[in-house]
Amino acid sequence: MKILAIETSCDETSIALLEARGDRGDFPTFAIKKSIVASQIKIHAPFGGVVPNLAKREHEKNLPILYRKIFGAPANEKKLWTKIDLIAVTVGPGLEPALWAGITFAEGLAKKLKKPLVGANHLEGHLYSFLLSGGSKPNFPAVALIVSGGHTILLKMPDLYNWKKIGETRDDAVGEAYDKVARLLNLPYPGGPEIEKLAKHGDKRAIDFPRPMIYHKNYDFSFSGLKTAVRYYVVTHPGADKNVKTKADIAASFQEAALDVLIRKTARAIEETGAKTLFISGGVSINGELRRRFKKELGKKVKVYFPKREFCNDNAAMIATAAYIKFTQGKKYRPAAQANLNM
Ligand code: KG4
Ligand code: ZN
Repeated sequence: MKILAIETSCDETSIALLEARGDRGDFPTFAIKKSIVASQIKIHAPFGGVVPNLAKREHEKNLPILYRKIFGAPANEKKLWTKIDLIAVTVGPGLEPALWAGITFAEGLAKKLKKPLVGANHLEGHLYSFLLSGGSKPNFPAVALIVSGGHTILLKMPDLYNWKKIGETRDDAVGEAYDKVARLLNLPYPGGPEIEKLAKHGDKRAIDFPRPMIYHKNYDFSFSGLKTAVRYYVVTHPGADKNVKTKADIAASFQEAALDVLIRKTARAIEETGAKTLFISGGVSINGELRRRFKKELGKKVKVYFPKREFCNDNAAMIATAAYIKFTQGKKYRPAAQANLNM
């Protein structure tokens, strides 16, 4: 089955064309025919975060350009059209105006191509993004950790098709904490890659930041207190946000605290569910120190799957995986924006 997928939930416009194989119950495989991501980072950076209506306008501008890049000249376009079986579009969670830009475009295409249109959950897209790497078939039960700019979620999975949320952040997502700490250190948006770079030159034991909820007997997280602790440190150490060595120490110590909590909670979830596999996904899962520590500390207990780096941040290829997995189960999301859709 050939799937054309569209993602516009935040600040990446993306279109992908994939060939999906495997019926219900089979292990699905995906071959990526085309995949394009146009990032709006430069447009939103001066505002220190994503501006929803600006994102919508950019998506509306980018979608036809990306579509042309995928389909090429009109003659080629017609040939490709006939081969598409399904159109998938992200319906949430995300910024409502941004979501509608993608949905409206997808609806237009579905009408023009006379093809079925299905909605997809952005978070399921992250969850299943490891499937884009090929690789070995995972064993179940599994635990999944989604770490993005908007979410920090722990799931247990009896099999590939079913998941149950067991914990999530009660306030800021971990990616959001990276972004906010970066802002405190006068670093540009998005903060994740900046903090990671800076942390490489810092001492992760320099500052003992709190590890919120680390010993709580649940799977929930809280990162707002950690960010506040960083703010307090910066305010009480004048010049800390300007001194390169201190900034690097703050970045490294913050990252260490955040990763300690993520790893500890995930380790408990693995122990208590008897999981054989761990899936980690979302924008923060591109982080090299996160990958190194999870593999080192949990890699003996479970096989750890990460998406390829190019599929950690928002992209349409992952939306095709989520839509296909739902489709093979006879389920779909209706194509209307659901900004607060969760798992
Ligand atoms: O999944 P994503 O692209 O968008 C959402 O669905 O939210 O995640 C974006 C988040 C941002 O908060 C960004 O700072 C974070 O991922 N991020 C990182 C890194 N690269 C991106 N966080 C830590 N280290 C990185 N290298
Ligand atoms: Zn995302």
